[in-house]
Amino acid sequence: MKQEKVIQLQNISKSFDGEKILNNINLYIRDKEFITLLGPSGCGKTTMLRLIAGFETPDEGTILFEGKPINDVPPYQRSVNTVFQKYALFPHLNVFENIAFGLRLKKLPEEQIRKQVKDMLALVNLKGFERRNVERLSGGQQQRVAIARALINHPKVLLLDEPLAALDLKLRKDMQVELKNMQKRTGITFIYVTHDQEEALSMSDTVMVIAEGEIQQIGTPTDIYNEPVNAFVADFIGESNILDGVMTADYKATFSGHTFDCVDSGFEKNEKVDIVVRPEDVDVVPCERGMLVGDVTGVTFKGVHYEIIVDIRGFKWMIQSTDYVAPGDHIGLSIDPDAIHVMKKSRFSNMFGDYSSFSDELEKLSDLSEEENE
Ligand SMILES: Nc1ncnc2c1ncn2[C@@H]1O[C@H](COP(=O)(O)OP(=O)(O)O)[C@@H](O)[C@H]1O
Ligand SMILES: [Mg+2]
Repeated sequence: MKQEKVIQLQNISKSFDGEKILNNINLYIRDKEFITLLGPSGCGKTTMLRLIAGFETPDEGTILFEGKPINDVPPYQRSVNTVFQKYALFPHLNVFENIAFGLRLKKLPEEQIRKQVKDMLALVNLKGFERRNVERLSGGQQQRVAIARALINHPKVLLLDEPLAALDLKLRKDMQVELKNMQKRTGITFIYVTHDQEEALSMSDTVMVIAEGEIQQIGTPTDIYNEPVNAFVADFIGESNILDGVMTADYKATFSGHTFDCVDSGFEKNEKVDIVVRPEDVDVVPCERGMLVGDVTGVTFKGVHYEIIVDIRGFKWMIQSTDYVAPGDHIGLSIDPDAIHVMKKSRFSNMFGDYSSFSDELEKLSDLSEEENE
């Protein structure tokens, strides 16, 4: 079944004070999809949500809702609701009345209101909280009320702007799972905004990575993680070693002074490329079996694995391994062909991917503690 496009942005641009925040954005969002807008702080995520909600108007371009332009439709006439990071509940109303608010405006019969609020309370796991004062609830409970209040009008689309950012880690993880379930059960399209890549990967059907006013990549979480299109995406999603390389032939990538077998083809002969290798895809082997050989400059225990910084020809690699190696060890590294991701050069080349700063930071910290000991 082909899913209908519920929202489309066509050639959308928006500037503030002469600065272009969104530059010619084109995208569509499918009905019943959980899509996440992911990008660093200030990249225009909230602006994009506000455009969809109707709180901002684009300088250029068209926003369509179910195929019809809505640029001139005011926010309250769009079948869209927003959940903000700040809960913005009515402090003088209890949980029940906060959730019922939209239905009371519509003057629905009391019995229907009770039934719908009850269903919503069950959906957000707040059964029995009807009479509570909202100011006495925890942050997580307040956010549940805000979500119930936004969902009770059955909008076609729910916009969520970093709704979990204020919650502590454990609660945030629980709420991620719950939000995903709520989205599935209601069948409402969720457009979710976060700067947290792990949150984006774990919740979404589709992830859209934004930087410098432009969409860098749209895809499933696995696509984005496994096949980043450029150095920005590779660096922003997960940990990555990003190196200069050359495609000497189809299925042959040269970097770090070694020619590796890889699974990529179709580049020009000797085309310069960016190479991504994820830390978990590198194997530690004895030096004589190493495709690369280097010196361990830092080791941090992370619980599941060690995070190991290895200096290879002046480039600091990060690798993750369950085998312990000691700082100062001389080790070999082995990389399988399918662990090597080849990307076209972009304006983000050479900006990311060397863990020097990571190890320098550790060295500085250890310098400090030595000073303290003196
Ligand atoms: N109403 C506004 N007036 C002026 N500048 C704004 C306005 N809204 C957002 N901006 C600027 O636009 C940029 C993007 O903001 P925003 O969309 O909030 O980013 P994000 O949500 O990704 O952190 C920021 O530099 C911000 O200061
Ligand atoms: Mg924002």
